[in-house]
Amino acid sequence: MRRLLPDPAAELDDAALVEAYRLPAGRSLRVDFVASLDGSVTVEGRSGGLGSPGDKRVFRTLRALADVVLVGHGTAAAEGYRPVAADSAVGRLRTVIGRPASAPVAVVSRRASLAPGDRLAVPSTILVTCAATDAGRRAALADAGVTVLVCGEEDVDLPAALDALAERGLEQVLCEGGPALLSAALAAEVVDELDLSIAPALVGSPDRLLAGPLTGVVRPRLVQVLEEDGVLFTRYAVDR
Ligand SMILES: NC(=O)c1ccc[n+]([C@@H]2O[C@H](COP(=O)([O-])OP(=O)(O)OC[C@H]3O[C@@H](n4cnc5c(N)ncnc54)[C@H](OP(=O)(O)O)[C@@H]3O)[C@@H](O)[C@H]2O)c1
Repeated sequence: MRRLLPDPAAELDDAALVEAYRLPAGRSLRVDFVASLDGSVTVEGRSGGLGSPGDKRVFRTLRALADVVLVGHGTAAAEGYRPVAADSAVGRLRTVIGRPASAPVAVVSRRASLAPGDRLAVPSTILVTCAATDAGRRAALADAGVTVLVCGEEDVDLPAALDALAERGLEQVLCEGGPALLSAALAAEVVDELDLSIAPALVGSPDRLLAGPLTGVVRPRLVQVLEEDGVLFTRYAVDR
């Protein structure tokens, strides 16, 4: 993998890739997505068809740097999310860079859609939901050891959710989508960075980066571009 912008450089090793994505200390919400040239984010319902070895490296690097992985329930279900395992490639990279080997996964779900028995219904998982959801579901998940954060009344209040995560020491948040959660996060003006991998593919999928029109155009600022095998790994700052 090479850096095109800023300061062109060849052959970024794992340590250089970590530095390329490291954030200053303090709170942040960065969003990681892979999209095709036409803005599709799925091939046959999943992101895997857009992946590449470089994209997997960036995905691992971003997870290694994060305090918590935030994901919408639609993505967690479609992509078969599991807890971040200490003995995985991410866990090993986290250890190498001096971080706890695992990081919690925080699932955003208005309806508290996780079910006791789900792969993610374990004590390391955080459920971010709202008061309107079924109290029995919330209680069952809490009984399974899941940390249940009730943020908002009728819908999930994302700024309140990020405050609640930060109060637990989870300040650097990696949001892995999906489109509904990204749209809500942009509307709530809580996104600091978009890390978009652009795969050289044309797909025509109905699943796009955003779930619908935003009320105003957001204009992220390009801060970095890496490249490998024709895939561009962009880092955009979202000024609030
Ligand atoms: N290419 C990529 O990088 C990439 C990344 C992520 C996802 N994807 C793809 O995107 C698809 C999923 O899209 P999606 O839009 O359904 O995903 P999503 O945003 O992950 O999930 C939507 C669901 O998550 C919950 N949710 C999201 N935002 C919420 C909010 N602000 N407040 C309350 N609940 C919220 C709701 O769950 P409840 O219904 O339980 O309330 C909602 O139905 C999958 O096919 C996945 O493969 C691709």
